Amino acid sequence: MKPIRIALTKGRLEEKSIELFEQLGYDCTAVREKGRKLILPLANANIEIVLAKAADVVTYVENGVCDIGVVGKDTIMEKGGTFYEVADLGFGKCRFALAVPKGVDFYEGYHTRCIASKYVNVTRTFFERKNMDVNIVKIEGSVELAPILGLSDAIVDIVETGTTLKENGLVIAEYVCDISARMIVNIASLKLRKNEIEPFINRIERYLEGEAE
Ligand code: PRP
Repeated sequence: MKPIRIALTKGRLEEKSIELFEQLGYDCTAVREKGRKLILPLANANIEIVLAKAADVVTYVENGVCDIGVVGKDTIMEKGGTFYEVADLGFGKCRFALAVPKGVDFYEGYHTRCIASKYVNVTRTFFERKNMDVNIVKIEGSVELAPILGLSDAIVDIVETGTTLKENGLVIAEYVCDISARMIVNIASLKLRKNEIEPFINRIERYLEGEAE
């Protein structure tokens, strides 16, 4: 039987996911000692771990080349897609926020604001809900630079500890929403490999419930 493929978002979520799987009894030595390998079979289960960038996790799960994925709600909100979101894993907690240079009242005056973000769809939806017309400019990284350089009035970005904002003279004007890591499942996989995938999800849910108590 071909292995269940689980795509993990490389980096912070990867480490937390591996900790979770180890708590559930899966031997993740192959992932811990991965070197440059990107597909890693677990020693004591018919599971292969695939390491990918967040947006690619969604692409692989949506297209069925991976059965399961672990990805941040930020990526799910920005990219969208057709899959089941089956669990909030409770780690990778942070928030989307609208931030402005310290001392600026974002809502003062009537000019059309310019907002810089890596997350243009999240930003568009946020301001559409407010019926507010804004110009959005896409920045690929360190979006905090845009208002400092005078390109934008504000940013919509991920805030975890708030240190990046603070060290760059920005403050939160408004929270957009909470973010955390989610488990997603390919729609066909859940039907065709129900006997393997459902018990796996149930084990995770039971573990998370136990942790929450
Ligand atoms: C995110 C975000 C902020 C920072 C916030 O970037 O874009 O820059 O983390 O964290 P803090 O509130 O704890 O300071 P990330 O490190 O994910 O890198 P990125 O620029 O590649 O998105």
